Amino acid sequence: MEFVHSGMVIGLGTGTTADLFLRALAAALKDGRVQNIRGVPTSRQSERRALELGIPLATLAEAPHPDVTIDGADEVAPNIDLIKGLGGALLREKIVAQNSAKLVIIADVGKAVSRLGTKAMLPVEVAQFGHEIHKEFFRSLGAAPTLRRDTDGKPFVTDNGNYIYDCKFSSGIADANALESTLRRRAGVVETGLFLGMAKVALIADETNVERRERP
Ligand code: A5P
Repeated sequence: MEFVHSGMVIGLGTGTTADLFLRALAAALKDGRVQNIRGVPTSRQSERRALELGIPLATLAEAPHPDVTIDGADEVAPNIDLIKGLGGALLREKIVAQNSAKLVIIADVGKAVSRLGTKAMLPVEVAQFGHEIHKEFFRSLGAAPTLRRDTDGKPFVTDNGNYIYDCKFSSGIADANALESTLRRRAGVVETGLFLGMAKVALIADETNVERRERP
């Protein structure tokens, strides 16, 4: 909440950790500690939660440059590069984060890694058309890809109508910037869960302390 001031536009992250922030923001609005806030949701889920909690909303068209986005992450590297998207919201999260003056990540210490890809799989959002052909491409990059499915076995469909391949790298991702460029050049790949050079601050909590990491 230290990053939130009255009158701001706030990018509202997605996931269980971001939900704790949404609750704190709603409480601050309710008791008048902050006023005149508008939230830009990063998913249908965070839109629903914000409406339930009474946080006023705006679209990116109405408020194209949020002052700050507060979001969770699946992995945080020492330089605060990230893997995001386990909740499937990577594309909207990246769009909102990229247009925000500041991206602040909140995470528990279990998300901190020495190299990206060591714990989490890398989500890659792809167009439905011809999606099967990407599997071989992902394997050629050293990944073991799995098409994400819902509990009923049907492919998981993102808020944007796309599919997700979760890519496991057995020894982590050696060069995240090179991988991002290669993936983004592939037709049909819509977005990746690599958030490189985007976060300004990461607040990493263990049971007793919050470590603050800042990008130089
Ligand atoms: C959503 O798509 C993700 O990027 C989330 O930010 C990430 O999965 C963290 O979620 P949790 O806070 O629930 O672990």
